[in-house]
Amino acid sequence: MSIKENLIIIMDTVIVNKLVVIGVGLIGGSFAASVKRAQVCEEIIGIEANESLQSAAQQLDYIDRVAASISDISHELCADDLVFIAVPTLSVPSVLKQCANCLPAEVTITDGASVKGSILTAAEKIYGEIPQQLVLGHPIAGSEQSGINAGRNNLFENHRVVLTPSEHTAELHLSKVTRLWEAIGAKISIMDVVAHDQVLAATSHLPHALAFSLVDTLAHDPDHEDIFTYAAGGFRDFTRIASSNPTMWHDIMCANKDAVVRSLDLFSENLKFLRNAIQANDGDTILDLFTRAKYARDDFLKLQTASQNTKEQIPSMSSNLINYVLSPGGTVNGTIRVPGDKSISHRSIMLGSLAEGITEVTGFLEGEDALATLQAFRDMGVNIEGPVDGKVTIHGVGLNGLQKPEKPLDMGNSGTAMRLMSGLLAGQNFDATLVGDVSLSKRPMGRIAKPLAEMGVTIETEEGGRPPLKILGSTQPQALDYEMPMASAQVKSCVLLAGLYAEGTTSVVEPAPTRDHTERMLRGFGYDVKTEGSKVTLQGGGKLTATNIDVPSDISSSAFFMVAAAITPNSDLTIKHVGMNPTRVGIINILREMGANIQLGNEAEVGGEPVADVRIQYSPLKGIHIPEDQVPLAIDEFPVLFVAAAAAEGTTVLTGAEELRVKESDRIQVMADGLNAIGADATPTPDGMVINGGTPLKGGDIQTHHDHRIAMSFAVASLIATEEIRIHDCATVATSFPGFADLAKLVGISLEVQS
Ligand code: S3P
Repeated sequence: MSIKENLIIIMDTVIVNKLVVIGVGLIGGSFAASVKRAQVCEEIIGIEANESLQSAAQQLDYIDRVAASISDISHELCADDLVFIAVPTLSVPSVLKQCANCLPAEVTITDGASVKGSILTAAEKIYGEIPQQLVLGHPIAGSEQSGINAGRNNLFENHRVVLTPSEHTAELHLSKVTRLWEAIGAKISIMDVVAHDQVLAATSHLPHALAFSLVDTLAHDPDHEDIFTYAAGGFRDFTRIASSNPTMWHDIMCANKDAVVRSLDLFSENLKFLRNAIQANDGDTILDLFTRAKYARDDFLKLQTASQNTKEQIPSMSSNLINYVLSPGGTVNGTIRVPGDKSISHRSIMLGSLAEGITEVTGFLEGEDALATLQAFRDMGVNIEGPVDGKVTIHGVGLNGLQKPEKPLDMGNSGTAMRLMSGLLAGQNFDATLVGDVSLSKRPMGRIAKPLAEMGVTIETEEGGRPPLKILGSTQPQALDYEMPMASAQVKSCVLLAGLYAEGTTSVVEPAPTRDHTERMLRGFGYDVKTEGSKVTLQGGGKLTATNIDVPSDISSSAFFMVAAAITPNSDLTIKHVGMNPTRVGIINILREMGANIQLGNEAEVGGEPVADVRIQYSPLKGIHIPEDQVPLAIDEFPVLFVAAAAAEGTTVLTGAEELRVKESDRIQVMADGLNAIGADATPTPDGMVINGGTPLKGGDIQTHHDHRIAMSFAVASLIATEEIRIHDCATVATSFPGFADLAKLVGISLEVQS
């Protein structure tokens, strides 16, 4: 390489010439150390007034030289240089005053304080108006350590840095600060100052205030002087941040007073609510609150892991390797609540988006599939808030208010989403493409393409009627009377949704009853839908009026725990608020016929759907011939029902269930292979399975074929196995049942997640 080429490379990587760091504590020191490591600046100068700290700063290998004050070196600085203010929040204004007195207007100034509003106000006062050179920022990274020796050259890697430029901030200064942070591995977000201070008050300042206050409360409890002798992990984890620098946090609380007080008030109110529930022995309220909080925290952890992943995108299911390792045995006990119903969650987003007005959804399933549907509607211009703790607010745009998405809509792992979306996209005046993951890309879409084509809709599929699907919006669908060749709620719903846009009456006749959530929900949105026997009819051209939807817990997710308790001696489990739609209760009917002890309590109706608490106590199961009329009512539950059959005495025969071969995997083959691999006696047939139950299960390796329900079913099988079961490729569990592993452990299944 020639000297000239070499020089060009060096010049290319240098972002600032001189970096001046005022305050070489944790943040300033780490910033200097990171910039030094990234080799993107020529010289780093530390500013430290205190003489003993000056010599300590001099020892740091990432500081090239030290000065006592910014005014000592300001004459050396020009447009290529940058000053980073890293002093405690309340000291920033006095440093800014020094900068105003001596720094040339071309030098970029930025900071790392945790509160931005008070600094902006101070800057305005000092300079007369906010100077162009000022780019306020806040790295959301830190530790309870502080001081001159705490600096780390990777503190900001994969951490978020919020920049809050004002309208006066010049682009070149913003760009320089952005590039410098990015060079040391941080991720930039741009935010408004007020929003920043409110968000940080809630997520950072409030927890610190609580941690300090809790430790102080306990430390000065007059009744328990040696209380910390008995404090363990929970106390240590909760109060870790109370070891932070008190002066720094004093500054932050004072500087962000209004927003912190607002957050404290909200929290005090919620705490009072919990206190009252505990005092009133209101177990339901306590359990609801704790369960919601647990899921919210699990999601937060997932989000954090995803954002710390160096790849740009959240890892796709196929690349995200998660295995379950299960120790044999256990008993299943307790009271739990599982996440919201997947079918209803998808439909709530779809119909809420197409309605006129605002729809509030509670209990929404925050699993990958339902979230993909939510994202698809955002991509079509619908304003959707949340989910926060299962609450989603949808600002409906009306049946004709969707906008053309700029990219293909990703339906993830969900056949329901792809098939229902095809129906409603058939009525739009734009073209759209639907794509999915590896498993969904293999599933048959001819079953919806055919009736849609009969309605005059142009829909292009890949070979064999597989996704991606392209739905052309050039023609209005024509009304259709459709006799479904298979019992499928997805196909029925697809035709009905397209029928909303057709002129005249569309009807669907089903060969056997299938889940009727679409019909119920359409009625809930004020749309007239008639059901006469096996025929469902609606007129096109009406409108949907926004409503509120309370999503019950998913009976399909509950099924894993129902079978777990039903097959395991000494088990007694209650699952709360489970959806009991008559078109979904096949699992309960079949298990009862096999001899399971299942009782329903607290039966009620929420938003047009029946719910109940389900209590399952162990009792020995026997093999049966599963009635074919139950097949569509338990269509998603067969993987785990096969496990129940393996545990039962005698032979279980399933027929009339060929639909299982075209689910997320071929559930007949994949379950038979898995069961036989761990010592069961299962024979697959074209439309079902024959299982001779009662043979002891060993352990072994299970392949899920990207199917969430296969993974969860074999986790349940471990309860009656005698050796370890290793289930490979369980990432898709997150599509329908976030938090499954934790809940399984909670009730007594010995499950370890390996990723
Ligand atoms: C569903 C219908 C069923 C079911 C799927 C959800 C729905 O599929 O297996 O998990 O929400 O409409 P089919 O309609 O293909 O039977």
